[in-house]
Amino acid sequence: MTALLALEGVVAGYGRGDVLRGVDLTIEDGAITCLIGPNGAGKSTVLKTVSGLLRPKGGTILLRGEPIGGRTPQAILERGVVHVTLVLMDEPSTGLDPKARRRVFEAITEVNRAGRTVLLVEQNARSGLAIADHGAVMDSGVVRLTGTGADLLVDPEVARLYLGTAGTNVG
Ligand SMILES: Nc1ncnc2c1ncn2[C@@H]1O[C@H](COP(=O)(O)OP(=O)(O)OP(=O)(O)O)[C@@H](O)[C@H]1O
Ligand SMILES: [Mg+2]
Repeated sequence: MTALLALEGVVAGYGRGDVLRGVDLTIEDGAITCLIGPNGAGKSTVLKTVSGLLRPKGGTILLRGEPIGGRTPQAILERGVVHVTLVLMDEPSTGLDPKARRRVFEAITEVNRAGRTVLLVEQNARSGLAIADHGAVMDSGVVRLTGTGADLLVDPEVARLYLGTAGTNVG
């Protein structure tokens, strides 16, 4: 597996206390990775730390092997995050009706087919994992579980905690 992005033991927060408490996460080049987890787990904080909006206190963030942790958002943008290589999406389907939501997930798949790597954070865990090559479950500032999107969809523990009852889209 080729890692486009790798987080190793990333620690970050907003002043007092750490929100990310040692996040390990690998984003495979060319794939869709869906990050799920309860409110406040730190999912958005992961995206902010990758894009440079938040400076990590510890750990390593590697983009194609190059350390980018703590660089300015502009420097990270110039390396292609958001604009060309890696697209970070934070709950793109939230608040949409089912038809619009379906269209959003189709669009994400199209963006990926066009050659873009995607790191997607989703409350609609079932729909997110369904289009994802890889999934990661985050809780209390760490990544607890990773697997293929398909594996996580049928994992009884993931289903119980994050997918709600069968057939619904509870985050
Ligand atoms: N700007 C901020 N200043 C201080 N604390 C913050 C800030 N943004 C987030 N936090 C705190 O960091 C923790 C993680 O928040 P984060 O937004 O990363 O969670 P999340 O997993 O994206 O949750 P959600 O599913 O609700 O979007 C929470 O305790 C939150 O209150
Ligand atoms: Mg969030």
